[in-house]
Amino acid sequence: MAPLSGLTRVTRLFEHPIVQAPMAGGGSNPALAAAVGDAGGLGFLAAGYKTPAAMHEEIKQLRARTGRPFGVNLFLPQPPAADPAAVGAYAERLAGEAARYRTPLGETDHETDQSSDDGYDAKLAILLDDPVPIVSFTFGCPSRTAVDALAEAGTVTVVTVTSAAEARAAREAGADAVCVQGVEAGGHQGTHHDDPEADGEGAGLLPLLAEVRESVPLPVIAAGGLMRGEAIAAVLAAGACAAQLGTAFLPCPESGAHPLHKRALTDPLFVRTELTRAFTGRPARGLVNRFIREHGPYAPAAYPQIHHMTSGLRKAAAAAGDPQGMNLWAGQGHRLARTMPAADLVGVLAAELAAARAPAGC
Ligand SMILES: Cc1cc2nc3c(=O)[nH]c(=O)nc-3n(C[C@H](O)[C@H](O)[C@H](O)COP(=O)(O)O)c2cc1C
Repeated sequence: MAPLSGLTRVTRLFEHPIVQAPMAGGGSNPALAAAVGDAGGLGFLAAGYKTPAAMHEEIKQLRARTGRPFGVNLFLPQPPAADPAAVGAYAERLAGEAARYRTPLGETDHETDQSSDDGYDAKLAILLDDPVPIVSFTFGCPSRTAVDALAEAGTVTVVTVTSAAEARAAREAGADAVCVQGVEAGGHQGTHHDDPEADGEGAGLLPLLAEVRESVPLPVIAAGGLMRGEAIAAVLAAGACAAQLGTAFLPCPESGAHPLHKRALTDPLFVRTELTRAFTGRPARGLVNRFIREHGPYAPAAYPQIHHMTSGLRKAAAAAGDPQGMNLWAGQGHRLARTMPAADLVGVLAAELAAARAPAGC
C-alpha cells in the first residue's frame, strides 16, 4: 500500500476541519478534548506547565472518555537567556502587587527542577513509549531525531510557526504539518526565538498563511482570531487544511478556564487585547486589564522566570475574584465568543462552514 500523504495523515484525524487549541494553564482538559473529538473535531491536551506524570494521567483520562483521535502539545525548552538584573528590577516593580494580594512573588530560580525546561525530554519519552495520534510543538522546533522517533511511533507531528523562516525550520526537521499562528491569536505567540527587537512585528494570519504556503509544501493548520464557521471557510479558501481555535472554546462548560476569565471574554469592561510580557516574560495576547496596563510597558523578556514570579499573584487575584490581576488570555475575536457545550459549538461551526462553502444563490 502506498504511504499516506502528509495531508491525509492530518485530515484523517477529524471529520470537521476544526481543531480545539491546546490551552495550558487549565483551559484544555480531557473533558473538552473528548467532547470536541466525539463531535467530529480534533481535541488537544496541553502538556505545558504540567509534570510528565500529570500529562500522562490526562492522556489516560482522555482515552477512557473517547476512542477518537486527539493531540498533545509540548513546549520546547527555553534558553537560560534572562538577565538576572532585569528580573530583579521587575520583582521590585511588583512589590505593590505582592502587598495587594498578600502573596509573595514566586521563586524564579527553577534550574534544579523541571519547570525551566518543562520536563520536555521526559514528556517526549512518555509519548514515544505510549504514542498518541498527533503531537504539536510550540516555542521552538523539535529536533529531526525527535520528529523521526515520533513518526516511527505512528504519531503525526505539527510545529507552530509565526514566520516563513520558522516554517522552513519545521520542514527541515521533518514535521508533517505546521500550525500557522497569526498575531491575532490568544495566549502566547509560539515564536521559536523570543526576540524583544521584534515585538509588535507579528504578521496577521492571512498574509502569514500565504507566505508560509509559498515557502513550504506542508499541510497548514491556521490559528488566530477564528471564531465563526465563515472565518474557517476563509482560511480553508486560503489554503489551510484545518482551523485551530482557542478563544472560541474557552467559555464552553467543559473548558477548565476560570469562571472570571470566561465571563471577561464578552464583558464590555474589557474592550481590547494586547500582546504583553507582563505575566510570563514572553509575548502573549490577553484582555487588557489593570495588571497589563501597569506592568506591561516595562516587563522584561524573561520566560519562564516571570511566569514563576507572577504565578502566585495570579492565583491570589483569581481567588479574590479580581479579574484585573489575572492573565485573561484571549484572541482578537473574543467579543464573538459563544457559551455552549463544546459538541454544540463544533456542530454550529461546522454548519456555518458548510453554509459559507455552499455555492452562492445569485
Ligand atoms: C488560554 C490559552 C492558552 C493557550 N495555550 C497554548 C498552549 O499551551 N500551547 C499552544 O501551542 N498554544 C496555546 N495557545 C494558543 C493556541 O494554540 C492558538 O494559537 C490560539 O488560541 C488561536 O487564537 P484564538 O485564541 O484567537 O483562537 C493558547 C491560547 C489560549 C487562548
